Amino acid sequence: MPAFKITVNGKPHTVNVEGDTPLLWVLRDELQLVGTKFGCGIGQCGACTVHLDGDATRSCLLTVGQVEDRHITTIEGLSEDNSHPVQQAWKEADVPQCGYCQAGQIMTASAFLSHNPNPSREDIRGAMQGNICRCATYVRIEKAVALASE
Ligand code: FES
Repeated sequence: MPAFKITVNGKPHTVNVEGDTPLLWVLRDELQLVGTKFGCGIGQCGACTVHLDGDATRSCLLTVGQVEDRHITTIEGLSEDNSHPVQQAWKEADVPQCGYCQAGQIMTASAFLSHNPNPSREDIRGAMQGNICRCATYVRIEKAVALASE
């Protein structure tokens, strides 16, 4: 089995998997970072969103071979003690219902705000529209992203 060196949440790891293994499964099965969720596996739902060099990306669509020498951040590495402004806003707006999609939502929102710290509501809706929430908490998600930008 080939060895791949990847950096996740600031820590280097060597994983022995096939090169076409999706990053999502490396995170969950090899590194036990299970905050990143499997939803659809085909890039349609956003549940698996992580940051790749600071940009939101879908870990189900990337292979481990594509992310060597790149910096990956998962929900576990976004902050210490859930203190990131987006996480604080999520609590303040009481966003989650079942909670399954929330890590992906937060990773998308945090990358978006790092590039666009003063978004309009329309900007927020546009940035978040690719992340599906089966509980339809979209109003609260939008509110939380707006709160985090204040
Ligand atoms: Fe990756 Fe749905 S699991 S986008």
